[in-house]
Amino acid sequence: MEFNFADRMGQIEEGIFTTLANIKKERIKEGKAVYDLSVGTPDFMPDRHVMDALIEAAKHPENYKYAISDSDELLDAVILWYKRRYNVDLEKDEITSLAGSQEGLSRIALTICNPNETVLVPNPGYPIFSIGPLLNDAKIEYYELREENNYLIDFDSIPEEVAKRAKAMVVSYPANPICRTAPKSFYEDLIKFAKKYNIIILHDNAYSELVYDGKEGISFLSVEGAKEVGIEFNSLSKSYNLTGCRISFAVGNKEIISQFKKLRSQVDYGVFIPVQKAAVAALTGPQVSVERNRQEYEDRRNALCDGLNSIGWKGAVSEGTMFAWAPLPEGYTNSEKFVLELIDKTGVFCVPGSVFGSLGEGYVRFALVKTVEEMKEIVNVIKESGIIK
Ligand SMILES: Cc1ncc(COP(=O)(O)O)c(C=O)c1O
Repeated sequence: MEFNFADRMGQIEEGIFTTLANIKKERIKEGKAVYDLSVGTPDFMPDRHVMDALIEAAKHPENYKYAISDSDELLDAVILWYKRRYNVDLEKDEITSLAGSQEGLSRIALTICNPNETVLVPNPGYPIFSIGPLLNDAKIEYYELREENNYLIDFDSIPEEVAKRAKAMVVSYPANPICRTAPKSFYEDLIKFAKKYNIIILHDNAYSELVYDGKEGISFLSVEGAKEVGIEFNSLSKSYNLTGCRISFAVGNKEIISQFKKLRSQVDYGVFIPVQKAAVAALTGPQVSVERNRQEYEDRRNALCDGLNSIGWKGAVSEGTMFAWAPLPEGYTNSEKFVLELIDKTGVFCVPGSVFGSLGEGYVRFALVKTVEEMKEIVNVIKESGIIK
């Protein structure tokens, strides 16, 4: 039989992580060194009280039924957390849970766009920002994030006709992969832009708890007018090390949330009840580990970025997220080629910037998933390899 798959499959490439995972497997088989800074999965444990809440709930057979919707307890926990953390007031119908922000971002365009309507997405940007709309048969158009603007959006550089036809815009700070944060004034400009062109803002705030150098992560919804123009995605994956539990939220504008919930009611039957219980425990329980983990990431960032700088690989930075973003060392121009050479010479794995869009070329992204001591060792291995000319 001959299969004719959908054209959209041609727009999606096999993820680089599969390629890197295969190389990693080979190296391990050959007994070669591997220092994996490619994938952004936290190496920290969830808090004991969070695991206990999940374990306890998992002991009860009635909790294996379809959850269908978010429990009141969960919605109250989100309301409490947004108030305590960002001083943002939410109501229950301004919240929906998601099976991870990734899942939410892969579907939200279905509620907003007809086929071929435009979603503005960042270049460079986290891949699901563009793959999501494409899967939903929307069209994507890129806005540029450039180092000379400190990777903030230059609204004047977005052509008027593009802004006019855009129905939605994905914005995300602290930003993966470029590791920059945005000040409140940026969000004020964003809201003005959204109102002027009638564009729905989809703000992904996966890393508000991972901001460095004494700054504090903020919510888009804490800025006046935000709820009139959009929603925010907020994930428990990185803030509470619950990546595999798949629990996140979309919060904000009632109309958008209500449409999204209507769509979701046809395609999923709610988050597993023990996972809802774990989320309640995380959001309402002791918060000590959130700051402890943030500090550890910052220490790792320092060890990696300062270390690379000291051996002549200049320019690695991170203002937030669990990553660092670095221009290629002098003498290299192709990020994919460089990553493969780095692996070959050192066993250090990172991600070529080109994966995140054309403007990511010339850079690599490191995940801060090794201890300070290991980061120092990694810097030393890179130094000894002679790859920095
Ligand atoms: C910017 C950004 N958004 C969303 C996600 C996915 O989050 P979740 O685990 O909630 O799907 C990630 C994961 O790396 C991310 O970096």
